[in-house]
Amino acid sequence: MDDQLEALRSEALAAIDAASEEAALEQARIKYLGQAGALTAISKGMRDVSKEEKPRLGKLLNDVRGAITVALEDRKRALAARADAAAFANIDVTLPGAAHRLGTLHPITQLLDHAVGIFRRMGFAFADGPDIETEFHCFDALNTPADHPARNEQDTFYLPDGRLLRTHTSTVQIRTMEKETPPIRIIAPGAAYRRDEIDATHLAQFTQMEGLYVDEGVNLGDLKGTLEFFFRELFGKDAKFRFRPHFFPFTEPSFEVDIKSTALGAADKWLEIAGCGMVDPAVFEAMNARRGDLAFDPERYTGFAFGFGLDRLAMIMAGVPDIRYFTDNDQRFLAQF
Ligand code: PHE
Repeated sequence: MDDQLEALRSEALAAIDAASEEAALEQARIKYLGQAGALTAISKGMRDVSKEEKPRLGKLLNDVRGAITVALEDRKRALAARADAAAFANIDVTLPGAAHRLGTLHPITQLLDHAVGIFRRMGFAFADGPDIETEFHCFDALNTPADHPARNEQDTFYLPDGRLLRTHTSTVQIRTMEKETPPIRIIAPGAAYRRDEIDATHLAQFTQMEGLYVDEGVNLGDLKGTLEFFFRELFGKDAKFRFRPHFFPFTEPSFEVDIKSTALGAADKWLEIAGCGMVDPAVFEAMNARRGDLAFDPERYTGFAFGFGLDRLAMIMAGVPDIRYFTDNDQRFLAQF
């Protein structure tokens, strides 16, 4: 049995040494150490060994098993190291790597963050509402009668169940007044949807920023001061403003804001940038009726609201000639911001 074991040891070690790839090595392991392998076969002979010889032969058996096991592991490591070296052989680690280009925030998102930051400094809190709305939140509560053109199916996306895609973020005024009481000072940026013909200045989905301030004694001077401060922060101190009388169902009086600024390129052209006005008492009354209380007593509270399109502002500020660039997802455009 001694001879058998020694013969097996040298045969196995030679075979392992000769194995030039992992598959061959695995075959050697099965052949010598496997359940049906050579070592198992010899160890079965232990049954017939005399009591005196057993300890010595048992130890030799273990020695041989250990030697083969170690040789297998060593060879496996050597083969792996060789494969690694081969894999790296043709790689020039001194070549410059493939750089990961860092993305940037979308230009509208950048403007939105900037705008929210300015309003936060004036004490406005962030408010939110759903894009899919009811007619109540989009029109009725905003004093917009059933025959108003904005409610037309030609202008508004209606869902089969009668809900709609909000046509403006003024819905968030209503959402906020439903659950909160004065004083209220919020801004609400978000998507708005209109069934417009898509062209260089119109998309079916665009981004608006809404503002609402309700408290005792809020007046037109507050509205003007707030918007002028905001737009001066955005466009520079030399910006000039014009508040032009206008009509919105939910504000009275209502205005459109025009701005003129050297920062905007066309220095002597008035650009229309926002709609605004004093909250119409009819809106407060609709809220009270909805809530079943007098939280928005029009004898006690006044408020102002405003809304403007961020896409349009971004176009003016960056001199972008076509609104569709914002949604085309063209890297050559987006990487400039
Ligand atoms: N919701 C109006 C629009 O989309 C803008 C607006 C908001 C006007 C708030 C007045 C007050 O055109």
